[in-house]
Amino acid sequence: MRKLLVDTDTASDDAVALILALRSSLVEVVAITAVAGNVPVEQGAQNALYTVELCGADVPVHVGAAKPLTRELESATWFHGMDGLSDCGYKVTHRTVDPLPAVEAIVANALANPGLELITLGPLTNLALAIRQQPTIVKNISRCVVMGGAACTEGNVTPAAEFNIWVDPEAAREVFLSGLPIEMVGWELSRQDAALDEHDIAAVQELDTPLARFAIGCNGRAREAYLEQTGERGISLPDPIAMAVMLEPELVLESSQHYVDIETRSALTRGMTVVDRLNVSGDARNEREWSEVHARAKKVKVCWKLDVDRWKRALMEALSR
Ligand code: BDR
Ligand code: CA
Repeated sequence: MRKLLVDTDTASDDAVALILALRSSLVEVVAITAVAGNVPVEQGAQNALYTVELCGADVPVHVGAAKPLTRELESATWFHGMDGLSDCGYKVTHRTVDPLPAVEAIVANALANPGLELITLGPLTNLALAIRQQPTIVKNISRCVVMGGAACTEGNVTPAAEFNIWVDPEAAREVFLSGLPIEMVGWELSRQDAALDEHDIAAVQELDTPLARFAIGCNGRAREAYLEQTGERGISLPDPIAMAVMLEPELVLESSQHYVDIETRSALTRGMTVVDRLNVSGDARNEREWSEVHARAKKVKVCWKLDVDRWKRALMEALSR
């Protein structure tokens, strides 16, 4: 059985991603590690525990970094609600977090499970710290799906950057340059026809299972915020889409391999995922800027196009039981 570790700043779309993983017969989730991002890390860990409980799963939740590597935390409670789950009053009843800190849990699981698959649904702080602590884990991780960035298009925090990368660009840069086999699922893949429209939302509600009710209920605030932010209607679910790609890579209809670097110094383009789409970074004129990337990083699998029907079928299937 494939083993999967999920790193998450659990808010509304993260929670749905956790449901996909915890209900899947394709993977065993060995651990969930919480990181500060959408909400403070303790709140994210409680939200992850609540989701585990709702799924009837038995997976440890570890608490990780409370803030980015060098910056203060800037959360996204305006988008997901103060508790990250639209302030509906969801409360864990009989589970508590695992005492092992998240960074130690990532290291221990990677060392114990060669071939481990890992997905990041929040800022990359925990993973950067784990690689600092034990660089050899890189060779034990067979896939690292990153929900983050915006490939050659606009972001959702600034015109240049997507939230997960923008919050902790220094951590993102360390991870992207670490040599991990990264698959980048950018924010743009969750927009437009990939977002749940009114028909899709009604279909989920008709399932009338506890998981379906929770998936729509906890995304109530995100649905409003997505309209405010983009002018687009529906529920956009970036983390569940990344999880669907993790579970079934065939969902990706178009992808290509490129060097990707992360901007950390500019205020204007902080957290930009700079994709060398034309493979021009090896050109002599660019050699100085890109030499560190070429020396340390692997090319990233950048996902460009999804099988949207199949993604929505995977979601319905996970929420139907
Ligand atoms: C990402 O940012 C968070 O708000 C979501 O949970 C998702 O991981 C989308 O930009
Ligand atoms: Ca997230």
